[in-house]
Amino acid sequence: MAERDSQLAELIAAVQASARYRTIDAAVIERVGRESLQRYPSLKAAIKAAKTTLHQMIGAYADRALPYPQWLAELQSAPDKTTRQAVCHRLMAHHASTRERLPALDRLYPACFGGQPPQRVLDLGCGLNPLAIPWMELPPTTWYAAYDIDMALSGFIRAALPLLGVQGEANTCDLAAGPPPVAADVALVLKTIPLLEQQRRGAGADLLRAIQAPRLVVSFPTRSLGGRNVGMATTYRGYMDALAAAEGWSPHVIELPNELVFVIERHTPSRSRM
Ligand SMILES: C[S@@+](CC[C@H](N)C(=O)[O-])C[C@H]1O[C@@H](n2cnc3c(N)ncnc32)[C@H](O)[C@@H]1O
Repeated sequence: MAERDSQLAELIAAVQASARYRTIDAAVIERVGRESLQRYPSLKAAIKAAKTTLHQMIGAYADRALPYPQWLAELQSAPDKTTRQAVCHRLMAHHASTRERLPALDRLYPACFGGQPPQRVLDLGCGLNPLAIPWMELPPTTWYAAYDIDMALSGFIRAALPLLGVQGEANTCDLAAGPPPVAADVALVLKTIPLLEQQRRGAGADLLRAIQAPRLVVSFPTRSLGGRNVGMATTYRGYMDALAAAEGWSPHVIELPNELVFVIERHTPSRSRM
């Protein structure tokens, strides 16, 4: 046991020594480290496996070392909505998920939110998606809560939310262990379910069932990061069809060029914040 603990400490230190993973929530590194040590008896192999898993979780999507202080300064000096949208549009191009969605920003969020803008929004596995707030037509009283695993990203989003015209918070949270204990009118879970299912089979479905929001907006990529069509739309449609049938949900489906979006109305009252 003591040897396992010291191996885990060594693994965590080795992962955090890498600039790429230094800003990832320590609890996530510890969880991934424990799982790697269970699978690989050699510490060296476990460290390599932990880094590979973390790379799959975040590394493959975003440009390296994003200049958050500079981005905040750019947002701060944007004098009006048009300039703010231009800045956000440019910044979102630094993350593969938001980059692919840029041509659809104008029509996506009105379609997801229905006739009434939500008062409380959860954005789970947010990446840079909160930078799309200027396209969401949210009133300034909206509470926007964003979660991901990277502390630097969360800090940036936390500071950016008031500049984007809403109130809110951004924090780290390991969604493979469940949603944050926060209720909302709508939860955005964009392109994050496949990563959670990769981390633990069933983690994506468990998350969707546990979220405290009557409306879920859940999306899946339909092309690989390299842009290839490898049958992902069929796979994820099957995944959501099975889950929706089991849960009695009737999703409305929106097809974007690279993304399949399921809007699920659960008719369950959102519970107050715990
Ligand atoms: C494919 S990106 C999607 C980003 C954003 N939702 C979008 O669609 O633009 C997946 C995001 O999920 C985050 N993520 C991966 N595993 C996670 C976990 N266990 N808990 C919380 N976030 C996670 C990654 O850091 C990444 O930002």
